[in-house]
Amino acid sequence: MPQTLAEIPTVNSKSSIGDVLRDGEESLAAAGVENPRLDAEHLLAHCLGIEPWRLLLERERVLNPAQEAQFQLLLEARRLRRPLAYILGEAGFYDLVLSVDPRALIPRPETELLVEKALQILEGTTGPEVIEIGCGSGAIVLALARRLPSGRIGASDVSQAALDLAKENAARLGLEGRIDFRPGDLFAPWPDRRGRGVDLVVANPPYLSREELDTAPPEVRDYEPREALEGGEDGLAVIRRLVGEAADYLRPGGRLLFEIGSGQGQAVRELSGPAAPVIARSEATKQSQLGSNSAGQVSVEDCFAPSAPAMTDSVAAGLELIELAKDYCGRDRVAVFGRRNG
Ligand SMILES: C[S@@+](CC[C@H](N)C(=O)[O-])C[C@H]1O[C@@H](n2cnc3c(N)ncnc32)[C@H](O)[C@@H]1O
Repeated sequence: MPQTLAEIPTVNSKSSIGDVLRDGEESLAAAGVENPRLDAEHLLAHCLGIEPWRLLLERERVLNPAQEAQFQLLLEARRLRRPLAYILGEAGFYDLVLSVDPRALIPRPETELLVEKALQILEGTTGPEVIEIGCGSGAIVLALARRLPSGRIGASDVSQAALDLAKENAARLGLEGRIDFRPGDLFAPWPDRRGRGVDLVVANPPYLSREELDTAPPEVRDYEPREALEGGEDGLAVIRRLVGEAADYLRPGGRLLFEIGSGQGQAVRELSGPAAPVIARSEATKQSQLGSNSAGQVSVEDCFAPSAPAMTDSVAAGLELIELAKDYCGRDRVAVFGRRNG
């Protein structure tokens, strides 16, 4: 792939916005990109420093050679299936715009349901104490910190690179003083919360099986961090550990809330032991229904057929499943566990 403008072949400087969009769309479609028109528009708008909706109004405008060359450079990256959000360098999540790059997973619209559920659970709790395990770019914890001004909020990730990005996003949003960021594996960074417990532990753990990830679209498989996506052979390795260890970090009445794959509901139910859980249906936010992530990245969930691996070897220690919330498509999406004595 060309790395600099100088390496891009000479371009026709007489091309209009309409011309380059049409050619760009065609070339992205030929490369197998899912939304070629939308992506071409985002890339061109980015090059021109305007909002995508302006392109239609300005379709006769002629690009200068530098603009067209930059557009060709970005198109080439997208033809190589680099995710749009990584090329643009940002993604929308909930009511935030976050910097994104290959240090962390691109936040997905469906994860906004986790934020909604967390806020619902914490409603009426004064000065709630929350920790997020696996914060990635910081999407969830930053959305929560904004909505919980009196909250005591911590976030950790096993990836130092992801944690650095989350801190950068916190600074960009003026929230850096609000969040206690710590590196480390699952609950290891939080020994001071052990026994005492918090009101909510929230996580969007890696939950794809190895095979699901290996057969995912190139945007996901080849560019996003593997440790952010793959939950071991059957996708449930991190979920099992989360559910197995969380009880010591929850105060009575506290909740463990995490995202699951649409085919994992039954396996997660089985984690809770023989008691039949209450199954609730939740509605996602209007933002989610509209797919609010302007970067239009590939959904993790849309990458593979749902599977339902059995989980018979592990039962939640001291926890029980309280709710399995469905997303706007009616698929299991969020699990809520509580302490058995809570
Ligand atoms: C699916 S990504 C979620 C990122 C972010 N919370 C979001 O929703 O966009 C999972 C995150 O968990 C982190 N992670 C994976 N295994 C972990 C572990 N054992 N302990 C802590 N973090 C872990 C990954 O580095 C990654 O950032």
